[in-house]
Amino acid sequence: MKHIESVAEMKAVCREITRRGRTLGFVPTMGALHEGHASLVRASKAQCQATAVSIFVNPLQFGPTEDLDKYPRTMERDSKLLQELGVDVLYAPTVSEMYPPGATTYVEVSGISDRLDGASRPGHFRGVATVVAKLFEIVRPDRAFFGQKDAAQVAVLRRMVRDLDVDLQLVVCPIVREKDGLAMSSRNAYLNPDERKQALVLNRSLMRVQHVANGGELDAAKLIATGKSVIAEEPAARLDYFAIVDPDTLEAVSDVSRGALVAVAAYVGATRLIDNVLLAPR
Ligand code: PAJ
Repeated sequence: MKHIESVAEMKAVCREITRRGRTLGFVPTMGALHEGHASLVRASKAQCQATAVSIFVNPLQFGPTEDLDKYPRTMERDSKLLQELGVDVLYAPTVSEMYPPGATTYVEVSGISDRLDGASRPGHFRGVATVVAKLFEIVRPDRAFFGQKDAAQVAVLRRMVRDLDVDLQLVVCPIVREKDGLAMSSRNAYLNPDERKQALVLNRSLMRVQHVANGGELDAAKLIATGKSVIAEEPAARLDYFAIVDPDTLEAVSDVSRGALVAVAAYVGATRLIDNVLLAPR
């Protein structure tokens, strides 16, 4: 596995891969890798002849009061895991390599970036879209792999790829969970043992809503009330949002007959967690 830090070298190595006629898969991450990230790498390995992974904790997508400084950084372990998974190229640039002094260009996916996590985290999706657009241009992959875990991020990036005519296929992979249902996340490392149990309420609320919807309830307002009542049963959880939306536009839907994304964000202690489930069309 090649370990690259500079933009110029990463471009050269990726161009050489595609020049030789090999298809290139790309998995962008912020590191602190877990089985969710590994599932994306495996999907890329299965679908492409070469796989590149980036590890970059992107300051642009963190708010001033968020966890940029304490975000887990485990490069040695990550690099070993990626090597074992058979990744061809690891790209781990420094902040000044990605954002040289004087960088003032941003990618703004209007409207959609202000919904769900974008509403609670102003500027977050501008940071995500900007770094992912840059990474796409550096790597120019045939396919890029993202997790359904971050459903709003998927919607924003799908729109960006469409609007900017980016020449790649965006592949979305299912949420990988712990045995007890907790969605895997690098931020789960922040949870103490009590919080780890309390965090299960997110998945429990989604399972309840899915169950009630499968039982025939199509009214989004009623389903949201059901989900919120489950969250309220766990005093340690503080709800950020519980929403039922169109998975492409992230706009609220009033009924779920045509399918919908049910998404929740809540704080458990100081840790903000997200989870979601897709309801199938009736
Ligand atoms: P990060 O949180 O490290 O996630 C990298 C990728 O792994 C994302 O596509 C995310 O959806 C996926 N992922 C995380 N947990 C998952 C799980 N439990 N199951 C399946 N996939 C999972 O998302 C980011 O980094 C950043 O915003 C990034 C896109 C790299 C831009 O900085």
